[in-house]
Amino acid sequence: MMRDGAAALAGSDSETMIEVDLPGRRYDIVIGEGLLAAAGERLAAALPQARYAVVSDANVAGLHLAPLKASLEETGSFLGSAVVAPGETSKSFPVLEKLCETLLELGVERGDCVIALGGGVVGDLAGFAASILRRGVRVVQMPTSLLAQVDSAIGGKTGIDTKHGKNLIGTFHQPSLVVADVSVLSTLPTREFRAGYAEVAKYGLLGDAPFFAWLEQNWKDVFAGTDAKRRQAVETSARAKAKIVMADEREESGTRALLNLGHTFGHALEAFAGYSDRLLHGEAIAIGMRLAFTYAVEQGLCPQDDAARVAKHFTDVGLPTEISAIPGDAPSPGELLRLMAQDKKVRGGKLALVLARGIGEAFVESDVAMDRLTAFLKEECTRR
Ligand SMILES: NC(=O)c1ccc[n+]([C@@H]2O[C@H](COP(=O)([O-])OP(=O)(O)OC[C@H]3O[C@@H](n4cnc5c(N)ncnc54)[C@H](O)[C@@H]3O)[C@@H](O)[C@H]2O)c1
Repeated sequence: MMRDGAAALAGSDSETMIEVDLPGRRYDIVIGEGLLAAAGERLAAALPQARYAVVSDANVAGLHLAPLKASLEETGSFLGSAVVAPGETSKSFPVLEKLCETLLELGVERGDCVIALGGGVVGDLAGFAASILRRGVRVVQMPTSLLAQVDSAIGGKTGIDTKHGKNLIGTFHQPSLVVADVSVLSTLPTREFRAGYAEVAKYGLLGDAPFFAWLEQNWKDVFAGTDAKRRQAVETSARAKAKIVMADEREESGTRALLNLGHTFGHALEAFAGYSDRLLHGEAIAIGMRLAFTYAVEQGLCPQDDAARVAKHFTDVGLPTEISAIPGDAPSPGELLRLMAQDKKVRGGKLALVLARGIGEAFVESDVAMDRLTAFLKEECTRR
């Protein structure tokens, strides 16, 4: 077992433990194969006396709930499950309300625990429900999408969307444990895997140039999942996320904001596309990161070669890099700017963007010149 984070202890190779060491809220991220079917015993040891209500979506429940349920039943700790519809539309007030009622009907008490079994949607929704249910019950994140394993399940951000934008209602509620079973990624549709890969690449782009170079060399094996490289990519990413969360749990010092590389552009594109299959979150972020690099080049902040490498790598793996790649009508620059201004990275009316001085060198530009950004978006909205 490998333990990383504040302390590193060597052990067996079958699973990797990454410690998220936050004052009063420390937890482990366990990464390995076949972990769902053995979760009952692990949870009984980690959270004695707790009973578990599993929240999942219909896709994931059909594929992966049974082994987890059986394992929890073995330890007599399964309360029941609540299954929501797959997709971003489940991160809404009506679904949250229904979920909270269901969890109460299942008998979740203060000492019990919610398990979020699914992608980022389930993780954000179930984490939020846990944080407000009976003034807060514990949550264990069991991420099943690549995006959730490398990003959303770690760090305690929970929330739902509103008509004003994504993730505008939510809480910080750190999980008690994260169990990332990489074997479940084999059932993830390729398009979803690819979208999650954008977040993997993000860790290289924001602060780890050697990792980005490794991905340029090894992405085919990461996608194929036939050797240890997929797991290596998940571990490197999870470790990077844990490190950032430990440095800046509540996005106060600016370190955690670096995770938003490409996200202000990306969230605006996602909102424009109606949070639909037209453009997945990771696809929007891929276009957003390419835009952030190009904008940085145009402002004389970043070498052109680095921006070209970003665009090439995303194109190689099949991720979109252009606004024109979004099917259907193109957004107008004004529309995009309005949507970008609604992003929660706006402070005192000023737009902040996470840009890069090169691969692995992201930084927060907190006073973006609106006239330059408008001119940039005009160019980008018509680029083919
Ligand atoms: N909390 C955070 O820090 C944070 C960070 C990044 C993103 N997010 C949020 O994450 C969400 C996106 O997450 P996502 O990309 O995982 O989307 P998702 O949860 O919608 O999952 C994508 C699709 O894959 C399916 N799926 C998941 N795991 C599967 C598996 N193993 N096999 C087969 N199908 C599977 C789901 O049913 C869904 O249809 C967004 O709402 C975004 O805002 C949150």
